[in-house]
Amino acid sequence: KSYSGASLSEALEQATEYVKSHSKAKPEIGLILGSGLGVLANEIDHPVKLPFEGIPGFPVSTVEGHAGQLVLGELEGKQVIAMQGRFHYYEGYSLEQVTMPVRLMKQLGVRTVIVTNAAGGINTTFQAGDLMLITDHINFTGRNPLIGPNDSAYGVRFPDMSQAYTPSLQQLALSIAEQNKLQLVQGVYAGVVGPSYETPAEIKMLRKMGADAVGMSTVPEVIIAGHSKLDVLGISCITNMASGILDQPLSHDEVMETAEVAKESFLKLVRGIIHN
Ligand code: 6GU
Repeated sequence: KSYSGASLSEALEQATEYVKSHSKAKPEIGLILGSGLGVLANEIDHPVKLPFEGIPGFPVSTVEGHAGQLVLGELEGKQVIAMQGRFHYYEGYSLEQVTMPVRLMKQLGVRTVIVTNAAGGINTTFQAGDLMLITDHINFTGRNPLIGPNDSAYGVRFPDMSQAYTPSLQQLALSIAEQNKLQLVQGVYAGVVGPSYETPAEIKMLRKMGADAVGMSTVPEVIIAGHSKLDVLGISCITNMASGILDQPLSHDEVMETAEVAKESFLKLVRGIIHN
């Protein structure tokens, strides 16, 4: 699970060169698409699709099946790069590997990343199918992708996280939602490691601590985006209510089914945001 022995900077250099040699795009917006939300990448015009397996320096998947792909092209007249699928810490990747796509996007000239995910609703006013604007997060992983020596070429030792989710992009998202009559709730995302879902007691604790939704991604990527001085917009699809709220067990099938239902409004919202 190493980058065939290469250091982060070597791996990053290899991946950057590979992408540049396959696409002339100069993406300004990066999209990280969560579970069931990858459909947005299918709408990219003049796409160049680069499967993760073929990108030198990229994490090597040890699990069978398609890990995913990078898609470069145009969306709403803007040059974009999308991660159709992402690396999760619970899969056994290091946080350096999980966050490498964000560093790659930065290297390719991206200024803004839109990070999306499927999340469980903790706030009891939420409903499955809601889209949630992430206003802030709580790192409940007990880890940090910046642990270790800091390479000041990438960013500072102690990055400010007081505006991790860019306020002006939050305003933009809210106004696009209003214009299009799309419901957009707001809240704090708690990032956990997974892969087991939470117990009801854990969800009660998270609610008392200020979380509105919970999921197994996003936090490491947003920390690295902040370190890289990228603007960040975060959107969660509330695919299900978290443990103990409704009298029913949680399943990944439910997560994927609800993402499918929320797809239409998700696409409309994100397209509108990119357009503007
Ligand atoms: Cl309830 N918990 C976590 N950790 N991740 C989720 C989820 C819940 N629902 C979707 N993703």
